[in-house]
Amino acid sequence: MKIAITGANSSVGLNLLNHIVSNTDFEVIAGVRSERAMKSLPDSAQIEPRIISYQNADQLAIALEGADCIVHLAGILIEDKNSSYASANVDATAAVAKAAQQLKAKHLVFISVVGAGSESSNAYFRSKGLAEEFVKDSGLAASIIRTPILLGANTAGASSIIGAASQQKTKLLGGGNYSMRPLDIDDLNQAILNCCSSSATEPRLFELVGPEAISYRDLIQKTARMMNNSIEIGSVPIVLAKLVAAIGSRLKGGGITPTVIDVITKDEVVAHNADGDLNISLTPLQNTLEKILEHKKS
Ligand SMILES: NC(=O)c1ccc[n+]([C@@H]2O[C@H](COP(=O)([O-])OP(=O)(O)OC[C@H]3O[C@@H](n4cnc5c(N)ncnc54)[C@H](OP(=O)(O)O)[C@@H]3O)[C@@H](O)[C@H]2O)c1
Repeated sequence: MKIAITGANSSVGLNLLNHIVSNTDFEVIAGVRSERAMKSLPDSAQIEPRIISYQNADQLAIALEGADCIVHLAGILIEDKNSSYASANVDATAAVAKAAQQLKAKHLVFISVVGAGSESSNAYFRSKGLAEEFVKDSGLAASIIRTPILLGANTAGASSIIGAASQQKTKLLGGGNYSMRPLDIDDLNQAILNCCSSSATEPRLFELVGPEAISYRDLIQKTARMMNNSIEIGSVPIVLAKLVAAIGSRLKGGGITPTVIDVITKDEVVAHNADGDLNISLTPLQNTLEKILEHKKS
């Protein structure tokens, strides 16, 4: 099987590439936007790096030619001067869906987020919901996987947790009293590959979360204990954090905004976990935390 990955240099992309090289003999077209990003990709005969652009779907189709399955990972939570939700999340997905149609790809996988919805009042969740609609409307066999915070080597979530848990004192948004369902990135990697290999012919929507619900506060405490660190956790009022974020992001033209704070502090709740549907055996949270701590040491 040949898989094309967009945003291959993203943290999810790098974990997926390493997973594919270690566990399969699949060939991969690793799509990135720059020479610099190309240099960050693992060196393997299975991986063929290609520079891609999302500006023109016809050219994108040529760049991804030869792929049986396209895994669309490019996307952002934090906007900056060069990347908005409209360009990175909506327009890029529209271009990938169109390119996948032109290529007659056997399967298109899109990584979305728990909470996505085209009618959401939150601009990030709305952009992911609109992106999902392009995938659904492509007419292709497609899998949309909504995910929670992802824990794996160098994911933003893992870095934030280890960073906070390493302190003696830390302050969390709203005291960290919101509920997470952290998902091991290896479980997501396996789910993606299972989707690529599936014989489904219709677009399907999955919500895949980790096995354990835990407050962010308890997650930091648990990680600190595993690091033999004693930590005191305080609280930053969310209203205050949003005010500071609104001013800071306006001055900088991006960064943490009130929208991002709403995403980070939203409870990750799903009606049905798709682990069984995706044939995944979920990694216990304890093992996932051990893995990210081990990776941090290496
Ligand atoms: N990390 C999580 O916990 C999490 C949770 C839920 C869903 N997801 C989803 O998983 C995917 C990967 O997330 P990640 O955290 O691994 O991402 P990441 O490390 O922040 O990487 C972002 C990727 O998006 C690309 N990108 C940025 N602006 C773009 C634009 N305007 N057009 C096209 N591509 C653009 C970047 O390319 P350049 O390097 O060239 O800028 C990079 O490849 C995203 O779709 C994200 O929404 C992640």
